[in-house]
Amino acid sequence: MGQIYPDRGIAVVTGASTGIGFELARCAAGDGYDLVVAADEPGIHDVADLLGEHGVSIRAVEADLSTPEGIARLIDVIASDGRPVELLMANAGRGLGHGFLDQSFDDIRRVVDTNIMGTLDLVHRIGRQMREQQFGRILFTGSIAGYIPGAFQAVYNGTKAFVDSFAYALREEMTDTNITVTVLMPGPTETEFFERADLMDTEMGQADKDDAGYVARAGYRAMMNGEADIVTGWSNKLQTTMAGFMSPETLARRHRRIAEPGSGLR
Ligand SMILES: NC(=O)c1ccc[n+]([C@@H]2O[C@H](COP(=O)([O-])OP(=O)(O)OC[C@H]3O[C@@H](n4cnc5c(N)ncnc54)[C@H](OP(=O)(O)O)[C@@H]3O)[C@@H](O)[C@H]2O)c1
Repeated sequence: MGQIYPDRGIAVVTGASTGIGFELARCAAGDGYDLVVAADEPGIHDVADLLGEHGVSIRAVEADLSTPEGIARLIDVIASDGRPVELLMANAGRGLGHGFLDQSFDDIRRVVDTNIMGTLDLVHRIGRQMREQQFGRILFTGSIAGYIPGAFQAVYNGTKAFVDSFAYALREEMTDTNITVTVLMPGPTETEFFERADLMDTEMGQADKDDAGYVARAGYRAMMNGEADIVTGWSNKLQTTMAGFMSPETLARRHRRIAEPGSGLR
C-alpha cells in the first residue's frame, strides 16, 4: 500500500466520526495521508485528536451530507486545501428500521438523500476533479444489504442496492482512466448503525457482528489495490453467493425474520 502518484494528494472520508468511516480515516492516516473528514454532528471535531498519533493534518467538516448545502461546505473546505483529492471514501450512510408505512417520511427522505443523493453529488464533483487531474481512487461503502430486499429495513436496503450497482457501473466507465472505483460491502458490523436505525430489538441488531476496524482495513486495502469489490468475512461471502440462488420473495421473507421489530426478543 502507499503512494502511487508523484505528489501525494489528500484523503477525504465521509461519515468519519464513528464506525467504519472512523476506521477508514485511521487507515489513511496510518498510511501518511493528510485528511479532510466529514460528518453531521460535532463529534467529527474529535477525530483529529483521536488520530493525532499519526502526525498527519486532519481537517474536520461538520455538515449534513444529505443536503446540497452540506456537500458544498465539504467541497469548499477541500478546495481551500488546494491539493488534489487522491482518495475519496464515500462512506456516510444511515439505516432505518420498522415497516415502511410506520416510518416517518422525513426519516425515509433523509436515508435516501444521505445514502444516494449526497453520495452521488460528492462523487460527481470530486470525480470530475479526478478526471481533470488524471488520478484518484474512490471507495464506496455499499453493503451486502444491497443483495437482499430488506423487509423492515426496505428503504435502506434499496439505497445500498443502488450504491453497489452504481459503483460497478462507474468503475466500468473509468476503465480507460487512472481512476479506480471500489465498493466495500460489509455484513453486520459493530458500530452505532443499529442503535441509530432503531433496530436494537431485532435479531439483526442483537446478533454478533464484525469488527469495524477489520472491515475498514479490508476495504482500504481493496481500494489501494484497485479491486472492484470486497465482501468482508466468509459468512457474508456465503450469504451474497446464496442470494444469487434464492428468489427475491424468499430473501425478503428471510430478512423479515431478522429485522422485524421484536424479532430479537423471540
Ligand atoms: N454497521 C453495519 O452493519 C454496516 C453494514 C454494511 C454497510 N454499512 C455502511 O457503512 C457506512 C458507515 O456506517 P457505520 O456502520 O460505520 O455506522 P455509524 O457508526 O452510524 O456511522 C455513520 C457515519 O455516517 C455519518 N452520517 C450519517 N448521516 C450523515 C449525514 N446526513 N451527513 C453527514 N454524515 C452523516 C455519521 O455521522 P454523525 O454521527 O455526525 O451523524 C457517522 O459518522 C454506512 O454507509 C452504512 O450504510 C454498515
